[in-house]
Amino acid sequence: MKHSQRTHSLDAWRESHAKEVLSTISNTDDPFYNDINLVKRYLHEEKDSYNIRNHDIINVIYDRLNALNPELVIDVGCGHNFNKEKVQNLIGFDAMPYPKADMCCTILQAPFEENSADAIIAFSSMQMLNEEYRLECYERIISWVKPNGLMEMRTNPLGGSNISGGPNPQLRDSMESINGYTDRFNLEYIVEPFYDSLCDITDIRAFSKKIGITSDDIFKERFKSRVAKGGLWARHARQIYWTWRKPF
Ligand SMILES: C[S@@+](CC[C@H](N)C(=O)[O-])C[C@H]1O[C@@H](n2cnc3c(N)ncnc32)[C@H](O)[C@@H]1O
Repeated sequence: MKHSQRTHSLDAWRESHAKEVLSTISNTDDPFYNDINLVKRYLHEEKDSYNIRNHDIINVIYDRLNALNPELVIDVGCGHNFNKEKVQNLIGFDAMPYPKADMCCTILQAPFEENSADAIIAFSSMQMLNEEYRLECYERIISWVKPNGLMEMRTNPLGGSNISGGPNPQLRDSMESINGYTDRFNLEYIVEPFYDSLCDITDIRAFSKKIGITSDDIFKERFKSRVAKGGLWARHARQIYWTWRKPF
């Protein structure tokens, strides 16, 4: 079988699997579910999701969150809910029906109250669909955080723009867009620790300089290109982590 035929049949399989998964979700009234590419994209296996994590960074985040002695931490798009056992009083939800998530719902459907959470974790879950949807999602999650609360964020700043084989060209996070959200929502960066991942070092350096980071330590780590199991696509990009504080 030729490569293109194999890719085509894998894609057809993923699409029918995605439709099957969709049929098990009770409330699909959200633009997330109208986009079969998003649903296909987030049929992640536990091992793949685990491998992409940078545990050095994440352990620091756990310490920072637990030091708040939080009454509620919300993990937005928690996937396999890896953070559940590590962070006090964490509730993880995901649009997809991951068996270990506490709830299956989207950001816009989630039942949290305003100013109820000491912190949010949103690891690679805020870069979906279009700008309008994203802004609505950002507004919602920010509303859940108490004043002075933290938002622990991760994204792939390359987005989909440079991943030709990637199934979702709508993912277009960039350092500029992250900076834009910071201004728009009046959020503060917590500069130390701020961790990067390399995909475009020029941008990240410029960005870091702008927000006052002078240490080169954050550039040390290298990402190994890998192909996710199941023939997804080669990941050339790395993740960037940052922390925002919601002002009083
Ligand atoms: C790249 S995965 C990361 C999963 C997990 N945060 C982790 O670090 O392993 C992004 C997750 O966000 C979820 N997600 C994306 N948009 C969402 C939305 N609007 N509401 C709820 N979950 C969403 C996806 O279903 C997916 O499981």
